[in-house]
Amino acid sequence: MIDISINFSQNSAGSIKDEKLIYPAANRNKEPILQVLKRFMTPHEDCTEEKNPLFLEIASGSGQHVFHFAPHFPTIKFQPTEVDHSLLGSINYYAKNCPTRNILPPILVDICNRLNRYGLKENSIDYLYCANMIHISPYVCTIGLFENAGLYLKHDALMITYGPYSKDGIIVPESNVEFDLSLRTRNPLWGLRDINDLKKVGEKNNLTLIDTVEMPANNKTLIWKKN
Ligand SMILES: C[S@@+](CC[C@H](N)C(=O)[O-])C[C@H]1O[C@@H](n2cnc3c(N)ncnc32)[C@H](O)[C@@H]1O
Repeated sequence: MIDISINFSQNSAGSIKDEKLIYPAANRNKEPILQVLKRFMTPHEDCTEEKNPLFLEIASGSGQHVFHFAPHFPTIKFQPTEVDHSLLGSINYYAKNCPTRNILPPILVDICNRLNRYGLKENSIDYLYCANMIHISPYVCTIGLFENAGLYLKHDALMITYGPYSKDGIIVPESNVEFDLSLRTRNPLWGLRDINDLKKVGEKNNLTLIDTVEMPANNKTLIWKKN
């Protein structure tokens, strides 16, 4: 068992009831995403306790993803975060029940803010992970994600983003076109983002897209490296 103490200034999960939520989509995609993580993340098997690498998840939702990933990387500290206070209880439930005990209690994080507000230091994150937020939030959240990745990831560290994207302005297949339309109907500021636009935001923030992995259900995992 590793020591998962970390200098985060806040644990906002305190008074929330730990009620486990199950997102069917997360149950379907957690294993394919894990297989991609295993390809790109190093196992860090021989790191000392005080040097456990940090995997920061933005927009954790229910908390199912880190719960599925963490036992496969027992020396990595997983820090789930969410902007929606009502989800912290579920994330905390999963964190507390992780058999390898390497998930920290969730913290409230709005990715539009600089991460130093939550006690993080620049160049301190080994992996930044964000699934299904980029298209279900205003574009300023995507900008915030990339700006924070540029500032807070270590040199050569990875940001991993998962979800549906358009490429060269084209959305395929038709089901994703319909999904994009339904998102924009719910909120005009939401919608699928174009990989070329994201690459430009990446360039501004010292992030290079090093791989695009095709995933089930017309999703992609994008692997970004901090220069
Ligand atoms: C579709 S859910 C994805 C949850 C989870 N990552 C998954 O794939 O199952 C999108 C999440 O983005 C979060 N979110 C929206 N705006 C955010 C922001 N500004 N900062 C952090 N998270 C945000 C929402 O609260 C929501 O939980």
